[in-house]
Amino acid sequence: MSDCINAVEKAFAELTNGTAVLPLRIGIKSDMGLNLYMPAYLKESQALACKVVSVYKDNPIKFGLPTTIGKVLLQDPETGEVKCIMDGGYLTAVRTGAASGVATKYLANKETNGIVGIFGAGVQAKMQLWAIYEVRKIKKAIVFDLLEDVANNFINEMSKKLNLEITKANSPEEVLEGDIICTATSSSTPLFDGNKIRPGTHINGIGSHTPNTRELDTITIKRSLVVGDSTEACFNEAGDIIIPFKNKEITQSHFYGELGEIITGKKQGRTDASQITLFKSNGLAIQDAATAKLVYDKALEMGIGTNVNI
Ligand SMILES: NC(=O)c1ccc[n+]([C@@H]2O[C@H](COP(=O)([O-])OP(=O)(O)OC[C@H]3O[C@@H](n4cnc5c(N)ncnc54)[C@H](O)[C@@H]3O)[C@@H](O)[C@H]2O)c1
Repeated sequence: MSDCINAVEKAFAELTNGTAVLPLRIGIKSDMGLNLYMPAYLKESQALACKVVSVYKDNPIKFGLPTTIGKVLLQDPETGEVKCIMDGGYLTAVRTGAASGVATKYLANKETNGIVGIFGAGVQAKMQLWAIYEVRKIKKAIVFDLLEDVANNFINEMSKKLNLEITKANSPEEVLEGDIICTATSSSTPLFDGNKIRPGTHINGIGSHTPNTRELDTITIKRSLVVGDSTEACFNEAGDIIIPFKNKEITQSHFYGELGEIITGKKQGRTDASQITLFKSNGLAIQDAATAKLVYDKALEMGIGTNVNI
């Protein structure tokens, strides 16, 4: 995770510095879910890749499969040849966690109450907690999921992995006790009342990524310094931002800037300890390309993988 946080941080900086090629992803809705085709090229990192990823909400219950499944094709930027096909499901979760790790590193208060609140206890939620754990001193996590067994599984797995106290919340409000909050659910409607967020909180909103769905209500957006992974993605894909914008409850200027602008120092991040900061993540192909390159280089180094002739 810490290597991935570094790779993803560099990718966001490349996006701002103009050395990244990032077309908006193409989406195809099938009857049961959403399929996304996500290419990117990072010139400095020498990472060229395309991910095919699907988000099928009924997969866990109907087929015992994860909600998010994907494969990444990594190319050689010199020849264009596809040199590796790798799993993109776990990679997506790690790189999504890593983006929140970078955002938390730059936007959250340095000193926090050491409590992380997590909405959702699925695949992404676990990686959110792991990434936060890498960038801030954490003493406890509080998790809330509508499904009891999913929350229990989260607590069992992550408390062992991070050697951390994790408790189950009985209501969304309890989660807001954390100074750092992650929303990582499949919900299409707001998870909590934005009036209840405590001053100084940092939020990573990663779950919803279609224009008509949102995890965060208008009050949360209005009260926060809003930083996105990409302006284009936020205004094309993120219901969290698009819904209040379309309802004329916020103007475009309420959107403060992109994570890369904060990383490169082009824009200041948090200016006082009581500010509420929000990172809205939609998931960018640059994160996948950077992470796929990292995985490939590590696999070569460790002699892992299978050579195949296609
Ligand atoms: N921003 C990104 O880059 C990115 C990347 C991958 C996935 N995602 C999104 O993240 C979300 C979670 O993905 P996942 O793979 O972890 O799915 P998952 O199905 O494994 O977990 C989602 C969990 O959210 C819970 N949930 C739903 N509504 C809730 C509510 N109101 N309160 C509390 N919990 C609730 C569900 O019970 C489920 O356990 C999805 O919407 C997915 O599209 C975003």
